[in-house]
Amino acid sequence: MIAIKKGSCFKRLLVMAGAAVIGGVAFLYSGLYSMGADDPHYDVTTWALETLRESSIVRASQDIEVPSDLSSAERLLKGGADYNDMCAGCHLKPGKSQSDFTLGLYPSPPNLAVISRLDENETSIDQRNFWIIKHGIKASGMPAWAPGHDDTRIWNMVSFLKRLPDLTPAQYQILTARGKSDVVHH
Ligand code: HEC
Repeated sequence: MIAIKKGSCFKRLLVMAGAAVIGGVAFLYSGLYSMGADDPHYDVTTWALETLRESSIVRASQDIEVPSDLSSAERLLKGGADYNDMCAGCHLKPGKSQSDFTLGLYPSPPNLAVISRLDENETSIDQRNFWIIKHGIKASGMPAWAPGHDDTRIWNMVSFLKRLPDLTPAQYQILTARGKSDVVHH
């Protein structure tokens, strides 16, 4: 028994906090938590993680300078070829509604061929996409692409993402084709 002096609110709190920490650590070691990607979070956990992600990305990306030539044909074509090689397996393309990755990853990669955010602030979407592609998203399947890819290539993909939701499967095919002289090593 731990003796608590009557009226000592502070001590009581300290004991409760200590018990909570010990309980928490015991839970971590107990093996009771399910780590499977096929076992979804509680709603409150999803809410906490998404709030953390969105607030963090808004803060980190708000001062990124968006290049003025983001809509150029060159950026679009180069970004399209890279998207098809590196991203479409997880984020899909026109005419494709699921893949092993969208079915199995948790959180599931969103279908970037259908997300249209045209009603939102365009600059902040571009900043957000650039930051996410460059740095990735912790504890999710979204990799950081900065190791191995410079900012220009990342902006090219941001450029392509602006057009992707409007493309038909045939237009996608044309825009993402890589010319023979244009092979880039990853
Ligand atoms: C292995 C699978 C995988 C690959 C490959 C991948 N991503 Fe992701 N991506 C994810 C996942 C999973 C998320 C969602 C993470 C989350 O919900 O926290 C995500 C999120 C994103 C988002 C944010 C979407 C939104 O609006 O919320 C963007 C943008 C994105 N990825 C772009 C790309 C681009 C561009 C590439 C290729 C260079 C790429 N991703 C490659 C798995 C992947």
